[in-house]
Amino acid sequence: MKKVLVATGGGDCPGLNAVIRGIAKRATQEKGWEVWGSYEAFNGIMENPPRMIKLDESNTAGIHVMGGTIIGTTNKGNPLRFPVKKADGSVVLENRLQFLVDTIKELGFDAVINIGGDGSQEISQALFEAGIPVVGVPKTIDNDLSSTDFTFGFQTAVQIASDSLDRLVTTAASHHRVMIMEVMGRNAGWIALYTAISGGAEVCLIPEIPYDLGKVIEKIRARYDDGRGFVNIVIAEGAYAKDGIITGVQGESGRNSVRLGGVAFTLSQQLKDAGLEAEIRETVLGHTQRGGTPIAFDRVIASVFGVKAMELVLDGKFGQLVVLKNNDFSSVPITEAIKTYHVVDPSGTLVQAAKGLGITFGD
Ligand code: F6P
Repeated sequence: MKKVLVATGGGDCPGLNAVIRGIAKRATQEKGWEVWGSYEAFNGIMENPPRMIKLDESNTAGIHVMGGTIIGTTNKGNPLRFPVKKADGSVVLENRLQFLVDTIKELGFDAVINIGGDGSQEISQALFEAGIPVVGVPKTIDNDLSSTDFTFGFQTAVQIASDSLDRLVTTAASHHRVMIMEVMGRNAGWIALYTAISGGAEVCLIPEIPYDLGKVIEKIRARYDDGRGFVNIVIAEGAYAKDGIITGVQGESGRNSVRLGGVAFTLSQQLKDAGLEAEIRETVLGHTQRGGTPIAFDRVIASVFGVKAMELVLDGKFGQLVVLKNNDFSSVPITEAIKTYHVVDPSGTLVQAAKGLGITFGD
C-alpha cells in the first residue's frame, strides 16, 4: 500500500477542507493508495508518537462546505526556522528540515501534498530539494501568489467584506458619517480593491499606493459639500501614508508591526488631527474574513486543486504547485510560485476601472 501525507500550514482559509476531500476522493478511486493527514502542519508527524489521521471517504464526506481545516493548522513551528527555547529563556531558530525528511521516510510516506501559502511552499521546495516527492497546493485569502489567477479563500473573504460594507453603507448614510473598514491581505491590497469595487466605496487605500492624507480629505469634503454627506473607506491592513508614516503591515512576515485594527484607527486619528469635522467610525473585520463556509467559487477551485494534486502524485510529477491559470487548471514548478509576491498593479486595469467608478486611492 502506498501512502500520501497531507498537511495544511499557515493561517486557515475557507476551502482547505474541500482540498482535503478532493485528495481523499481521488485517492480512493485508485487501489493501493492511502491518504494520511498530519495535524497542525508538519508539527503532528514530528511529535512522538506522531499525531496523524487516516483520511478516507467516510471521514471527509461533506467537509467541503466546512470552514477551517479538519487536520488543524499553525504558523508556529516552521521546520526551516523552528523556535527552540534555551535554558536562559532565549529563543533560537533551528533548521529541522533533515529531521522532517527522516520522519517522512521512517513513517513510510511515498509522497507529500502540502497545502499552504508562500511560507508553506518554501517548505515544500526545501523538502523536494531534499529528495521528498512533494506537490504543493496554493492557499491564502490574500491572493498574493503570482503563479495562480486566484488562491481559494480569496473570493470568500471578498464576499464577507463586501456584505459587511453593504451594511456599513446604510448606517453611514443615515448618520452622515465617515466609515472606515479595515480588511486583511498582509502587504497586498487585493481584498480591499475587490471589496471597494463590489461594495461601491468612495475611498480605497492599499499598500501598493501609499496615500496622501490631503487627497483623502479632499474626497471626503467633496462628498459632504455636494450633499451626499457620507463616505465609506476600505483600507487594507498593509496601507500606509505617503509621507512615510508607516501605519500598517510592513515586513516580510505580515502584519507584525501593528496589530489588527492598527490602520483603521490610525487613519481615523490622522483625519481628526487634520481637522476633519465629520463623525468617523471604525470597523475591523479581522478573522471573520477567514472563517466559515467557502462560497461556491472557492469550493470549486479548492476541490479541483485537491483532485489535481492527487493526480500529480499518481503521475509522479513532483516539485509542482497546482494552479488556476488563464481559467484552466494546470501546474507550475513550486520555485515559480515562491519567487515573486503578487500585488496590485497601481497602473493596472482594475485600479484604473476603480478610478473610473469614482474610487479615490489617495494618490
Ligand atoms: O495571510 C492570511 C492572513 O489572514 C493575513 O491577511 C493576515 O495579515 C494574517 O493572515 C493574520 O494572521 P494571524 O492568523 O496570525 O492573525
